[in-house]
Amino acid sequence: MKILAIETSCDDTGIAILEAKDGKFTVLSNIVSSQTIHQNYGGVFPIMAKREHQRNLVPVLEQALKQAKLLEIQNAKIKDQNDNSKLKILEEILEKEAGLYESVKGFLETYGKPDVDAIAVTHGPGLEPCLYVGVNFAKALSYVWDIPVIPVNHIEGHILVNFLDPSNSSGQATKIEFPAMSLIVSGGHTQLILVKEIGDYEIVGETLDDAAGECFDKATRILGLGYPGGPIISTIASDVQRLRDDGRWTSDTVKLPRPMIHAKNYDFSFSGLKTAVLYETQGKELTKEYVAQVCFEVQEAIIEVLLKKTLAAAKNYNAKTIIIGGGVSANQKLRETFSEITDVKVIFPDAKLSTDNGLMIAVAGYFNENKKVAWQNVSVQANLRIK
Ligand code: KG4
Ligand code: ZN
Repeated sequence: MKILAIETSCDDTGIAILEAKDGKFTVLSNIVSSQTIHQNYGGVFPIMAKREHQRNLVPVLEQALKQAKLLEIQNAKIKDQNDNSKLKILEEILEKEAGLYESVKGFLETYGKPDVDAIAVTHGPGLEPCLYVGVNFAKALSYVWDIPVIPVNHIEGHILVNFLDPSNSSGQATKIEFPAMSLIVSGGHTQLILVKEIGDYEIVGETLDDAAGECFDKATRILGLGYPGGPIISTIASDVQRLRDDGRWTSDTVKLPRPMIHAKNYDFSFSGLKTAVLYETQGKELTKEYVAQVCFEVQEAIIEVLLKKTLAAAKNYNAKTIIIGGGVSANQKLRETFSEITDVKVIFPDAKLSTDNGLMIAVAGYFNENKKVAWQNVSVQANLRIK
């Protein structure tokens, strides 16, 4: 089957097309438009992100279909009585999505129905205004093309994208042994999820306040380094690591806490670490070297806690595999650290698939094919929890 997937839960507009057949995947396209507007504000503003999704969705769809060779010009002018009532319903579906009705109408009048079997869309968790754009867009396409919708849990997308193995040119899905312990670390979530099998999950630990990615983002905001924080800190920390390895780094004066590292549960807390960065830097001159030290230590603290808790949870639940996912799993040091684990197999997605994208939603859509519904039955669930 061919799945067209839509992801708009935060600040990335993603559309992918995946062909799945007999346990083999062929990625036909995966287009991500990352919104740069938030860099100026040090964080994501949901209403601004929503507006960007409204602008991006049609061009991203066009690009995704084109790359998948599924874009066919048909010049189907919508003019007769039947089509007028169709347009009215389309307008109703998109009534809260400024500008999207016009661009979707223009798109549908230019191009024919593509050869896809289902539309997978993230319906939660995420930023509510952003989720609505993607879901309403999916509903509009589903209605006009008469293709069912598969509502997808974003977190399940981060887990199941690990079935894609880019190193295997045959497209054969990765073999994952269950039960698995999945660490999902992103800007909105930090969760340890026991994966008993595909579709059967139990959250065994999670952050009580900020997510790990949020802590990276807030630390760079405090240090005046920009947004998103994870990649910035990762680059600076790698430079420090190189100097340390060469014995050219002498000043290790910054020490930050490892919150909840000794707590006898699998929960996390990262807001205290952010506050510690705030106190640490107060009144200090933010020299390049000092800022680099803070960045290095923030990354060390976060990874140390994530590693210890994940290992403990994996052991306690007899996990045969550790599955990592979410934006923070793009972090090079985190990858190196978790790769050193020897007693359990550790699986990461391709670094490009760690951060939000449509392909992860397509893969999760494939495994949730039996949940496909008519467009009228899709709802946004901003606080959706995996189970
Ligand atoms: O999964 P994601 O794209 O969006 C959410 O679902 O939240 O994750 C975004 C988060 C941001 O907080 C960003 O700072 C973090 O992932 N991130 C990283 C790296 N790349 C992105 N954190 C650490 N190291 C990275 N290389
Ligand atoms: Zn995410």
